[in-house]
Parts: sequence; C-alpha cells; structure tokens
Amino acid sequence: VTRLAINAIYSKSNSSFSFSSLFKEHPEYQSQFPKLKDIPYDKLDANKSFTHHVNAVVLAIANSVVNLKNPNAVLPELEKLGTSHQRRNIRPEQFEVS
Ligand code: HEM
Repeated sequence: VTRLAINAIYSKSNSSFSFSSLFKEHPEYQSQFPKLKDIPYDKLDANKSFTHHVNAVVLAIANSVVNLKNPNAVLPELEKLGTSHQRRNIRPEQFEVS
C-alpha cells in the first residue's frame, strides 16, 4: 500500500510531490471529488479540500512507513480507508498509479 501511495504522489512525469500530478494524468479522478471537480488545475494547490486530502495521503504513507514492521498497527486504519473510498466508488486500481 505504501509503495502504491508513494507512486500516486510522485508523478512519473515531473517527480513533484503533489497529488495534482495524479489529476494531470487522470483528469477523471479529479471529477470524483465533488468539491474539486470544477477547480482549474493551476488553482488546486490553493484549495483547502485539495490540500486536506493531500495531507491525509501523506500522513497515511508516513504512518505506514513508520509501522512497516508492525502491520497490525495500520491495518484497521487502512481497512477504514478502503471502505470509505469504496463508498465513493473509488476502485482499487485508482490507488495503483505507477
Ligand atoms: C493513501 C491514499 C489515500 C488516503 C490516505 C486518502 C484519505 C482520504 C480521507 C482521510 C478522506 C476524507 C475522509 C474519508 O472519507 O475517509 C478522503 C476523501 C476522499 N478521497 Fe481519498 N485518500 C487516498 C486516496 C484517494 C484516491 C487515490 C482517490 C481517487 C483518485 C481518492 C478520492 C477521495 C474522494 C473523492 C474523497 C471525498 C472528498 C470529499 O468528500 O470532498 N482518495 N480521502
């Protein structure tokens, strides 16, 4: 999960530390965010919903890395993450950006 999440953040195109590069490669993902779907690409970084989600992703990665040898400590959180995203029709493949 950690590797997949890191891949989602580090764009293969410009290596910038930003979820926005994921939206550049997959504009259809942005349209799944009700509060972001109409925000122009160059205004994303200034958007609170956007930075909130980026922070959540980075925190989840950090937490997974810290607990690499202790998967039980992160499993409940990751299961919750899966359920909450499944409810929004985010599919497992969308986490697998590489
Ligand atoms: C490690 C990866 C990710 C983490 C930690 C994460 C975390 C979160 C959190 C904490 C929320 C708000 C609370 C909740 O409903 O759970 C959220 C909402 C959401 N996430 Fe993610 N997310 C991740 C990846 C993704 C991906 C890959 C997509 C789609 C491409 C996505 C789409 C959404 C959407 C559409 C919402 C709802 C936003 C809203 O209601 O305005 N997430 N995410």
